[in-house]
Amino acid sequence: MERKEFLNMVGISVGAIVLQHCISGCSSKSDPTPIVPPPAGGGGGAVTGITGNADAGKAIDFVLDLNDKNFSILKDNGKGKIVGSVIVARAKNGTFVALSNACTHQQTQVEYREANDDFFCPNHSSTFDLTGKVTKSPAPTNLKAYKTTFDSVKNTLTVKE
Ligand code: FES
Repeated sequence: MERKEFLNMVGISVGAIVLQHCISGCSSKSDPTPIVPPPAGGGGGAVTGITGNADAGKAIDFVLDLNDKNFSILKDNGKGKIVGSVIVARAKNGTFVALSNACTHQQTQVEYREANDDFFCPNHSSTFDLTGKVTKSPAPTNLKAYKTTFDSVKNTLTVKE
């Protein structure tokens, strides 16, 4: 094999490895939870299964219908859902948690992690416990926690300040 052929082969192999690493690295940071925008005008809008306001620009006060396909993921323990400016999770022990979803470091949207039963910022790896308390910096302050009330008869979750 000539030197030029060898260098071409090595260059292709290194490029393939770098590309594969980038693809796997990028995909591991994506949040698998779909984002549900806040309802238009705070009154339900085009998104089914939610009434009220989930936009932090006004007081947080909304109700989720867990029978609706948009929020049925929260029927299961260890799942999370972005709802406007809030992240709602049903922890592994079944309790509901609702926190502001903007990391207090640089406002990156946080994710719920089932494996750790906590919240994670994919930007600089800050973590928060189920109360919103910072457990790993650089986030300087806790996430804001909202009150949750679950109606097991109607299968609805109320979230408010
Ligand atoms: S934006 Fe969340 S840790 Fe930096």
